[in-house]
Amino acid sequence: MTDTFTPVLTANWGQPNSWKLSAYEAAGGYKAAAKALKMQPAEVLGVVKDSNLRGRGGAGFPVGMKWSFVPQDNPNPKYLVVNGDESEPGTCKDMPLLLASPHTLIEGMIISSYAINCHTAFVYIRGEVLHVHRRVRQAVAEAYEAGWLGKDIKGSGYDLDIIVHAGAGAYICGEETALLNSLEGRRGQPRLRPPFPAVEGLYASPTVINNVESIATVPSIINHGAEWFAGMGTEKSKGFTIYSLSGHVAKPGQYEAPLGITLRELLERAGGIRAGHELKFWTPGGSSTPILTAEHLDVPLDYEGLASAGSMMGTKALQIFDETVSVVRTTLRWVEFYKHESCGKCTPCREGTWWLVQLLRDFEQGVAAEGSVDKLLDVAGIVNGKSFCALAGGACACVTSAVKHFRAEFEQGYTTPAWEVLPYEASALFAVEGGDVR
Ligand SMILES: Cc1cc2nc3c(=O)[nH]c(=O)nc-3n(C[C@H](O)[C@H](O)[C@H](O)COP(=O)(O)O)c2cc1C
Ligand code: SF4
Repeated sequence: MTDTFTPVLTANWGQPNSWKLSAYEAAGGYKAAAKALKMQPAEVLGVVKDSNLRGRGGAGFPVGMKWSFVPQDNPNPKYLVVNGDESEPGTCKDMPLLLASPHTLIEGMIISSYAINCHTAFVYIRGEVLHVHRRVRQAVAEAYEAGWLGKDIKGSGYDLDIIVHAGAGAYICGEETALLNSLEGRRGQPRLRPPFPAVEGLYASPTVINNVESIATVPSIINHGAEWFAGMGTEKSKGFTIYSLSGHVAKPGQYEAPLGITLRELLERAGGIRAGHELKFWTPGGSSTPILTAEHLDVPLDYEGLASAGSMMGTKALQIFDETVSVVRTTLRWVEFYKHESCGKCTPCREGTWWLVQLLRDFEQGVAAEGSVDKLLDVAGIVNGKSFCALAGGACACVTSAVKHFRAEFEQGYTTPAWEVLPYEASALFAVEGGDVR
């Protein structure tokens, strides 16, 4: 019997050797690829379009629509590039998926590549996660050996090669055009759009870039149909997805659920906030999405619900912070990350993130100048929307939303260090004897 929580993407994660081809096939794997290769590419594209699957990498752009932008009359090769950079603070869904079931992605890549008439596809994985990189390479080798990759896949006449590429560990290389530069061996900095990658992407050829989870969802849509997928979720946010719960929650982990579930419902499944504590603030989709508070426990976690609450779906990385956490300190840590990861191409982001860090350090140390909360917002206003790519907007979202919900806590930074207002030891998940958590 199935119910709304019957897992699809994560169904085989707990099976012995779930990452092996034999285990994947025994659980029904590669049936969707076999089915798709008997259909016309345009039919496959039509099913994905009708399912209303939206990209799971952050922006939520409809996947089938993106594929349909690839100009089939362009004589250049068409490419599929899977974005497995996953560097956003709090985000941790693609790596477990690749570790537990790399063949789900490979099967999705076969179907997606076939639909867009691509014969060479790439997986770009953040290089620091060496174990994931190794696992995907091994799975790709297994798929070649079994005839799921290479020439004339299973006698279909269709050829596909997959290249697994390790990035060098830069958050900006998750931005799709910086990723393409990096893949071409150039400095990982965003490109001007238009031209969009679908028209002129990798090696100036038509290129589809999709997130790991987006492509891994495709086999289930081909197996069960567009209507089945669109029957889950909410009016404009269809299907199921992986929500990653981390931080002060009793049972952190990956929770697969239909879009539109609320944090209250997810917390029920995750054992609630850690014992004896209460929710203070949370991110719905990683550190780039404006923070929310306990007031927002019943907001539907879909694109529209979160937008109406003043935030965004992002990567569905729900970082949970209880009442012991200093919002000033957390914001500083996030902005330090963005400052470090700013690629330096444009001035508002390169200089502005540096200034935000200086100001936030003063708030943390209790030496901020009287009235400088407004200066903080001013600087964020100069950076946000005036920078070249969305990294800068993410850096500002955590600042402006933190001030919006916790202005008084920032104002305490005129006189009192954040660690005196909220001793950091209290928020540590694991007490370290004699440890200094500053
Ligand atoms: C700074 C920055 C980092 C990003 N990092 C990732 C990432 O690690 N993985 C990802 O799928 N998308 C990331 N994105 C979004 C991609 O640019 C792109 O929208 C996405 O890969 C498209 O896939 P989707 O349509 O399947 O969601 C990032 C965007 C920005 C601005
Ligand atoms: S906004 Fe930041 S990361 Fe993006 S191009 Fe400008 S400097 Fe680089």
